[in-house]
Amino acid sequence: MSDDRKKVIFSAIQPTGTFTLGNYLGAVRNWSPLQDEYNCIYAIADLHAITVKQEPKLLRQHTLEAYALLLACGIDPNKSIFFIQSHVRTHVELSWILSCSTQFGELSRMTQFKDKSAKHTDDVNAGLFTYPVLMAADILAYKSDLVPVGQDQKQHLELARNIAQRFNSRYGDTLVVPEPYIPKTGAKIMSLQDPTKKMSKSDENPNACILILDDKDTIVRKFKRAVTDSESEVCYREGKDGINNLMSIYSSVTGKSFDEITSEFAGKGYGDFKIAVGETVADALASVRDGFNRYINDKAYLKECYTKGAEMALKVSSRNVSKVYHKVGFVDNELYR
Ligand code: TRP
Repeated sequence: MSDDRKKVIFSAIQPTGTFTLGNYLGAVRNWSPLQDEYNCIYAIADLHAITVKQEPKLLRQHTLEAYALLLACGIDPNKSIFFIQSHVRTHVELSWILSCSTQFGELSRMTQFKDKSAKHTDDVNAGLFTYPVLMAADILAYKSDLVPVGQDQKQHLELARNIAQRFNSRYGDTLVVPEPYIPKTGAKIMSLQDPTKKMSKSDENPNACILILDDKDTIVRKFKRAVTDSESEVCYREGKDGINNLMSIYSSVTGKSFDEITSEFAGKGYGDFKIAVGETVADALASVRDGFNRYINDKAYLKECYTKGAEMALKVSSRNVSKVYHKVGFVDNELYR
């Protein structure tokens, strides 16, 4: 009963094949603790993924891997609705309706569209352009109150709010206008090789980026090679981008404050600090790696989870989307439910 009064949180992640320490500390690690306090709805955004070229076989594999990885990160299909976006048809259906409440000019102003269309000049497809409308549909189909998003998705969330408000003023109060959810923790993780750049799996230097599924030796080795500065004191200070990044990582994994870290490593050099960060990160990721290996090899369990998730997601969202259909003026359809 009290469940009905819990706020709804929606978030989704694209099945990119590999996830980085940045994805982990900045996003998915924070999703699991939310499950007790909120009604959480989480999806693997495979529909979004095809806005750029994908190898179909790999997309299927990466989608299952992303699902298994999130289970390993603590998403509990008994507590949350956890599904694969393409399994739930209401997302695409609502997306069309919302696209008719979205202006061409608004979409043209999206910085991600501008960046991606500049990068993929041979395939500036309409899906790349309407991507934020589908994202708005993901969120609005569940009457979501809160959406945890990183910096790069803020503009899309703002657009989703504008679309919801516009729809409501045209058709009457129907959609919930979502708020961004800013997690209490969630440091921005920078490249280990150029700490002024965000950590990215597409970095050409493999030492720049820690992958969630890297083994311990690899993780420690990458941290040992992390770029720092010519000083020797482990402390957080402007200009010490490399050390600041390592401190943020260490702090977000251990919960220690910067001051505590500075005293822990007083009198020790960067070398000791780097090894400590590497080992701590590797140990924290060990259970995720074990869980991932277990889930990805249990296809029957995976299927049971994502099927149940899609069933629940469809039930909730089709109730909301059929209200939207009615408000728009479509003839009620008994088959829809
Ligand atoms: N576009 C998001 C990303 O690439 C993923 C996503 C899809 C999403 N639908 C969403 C995030 C809805 C939040 C809410 O990171």
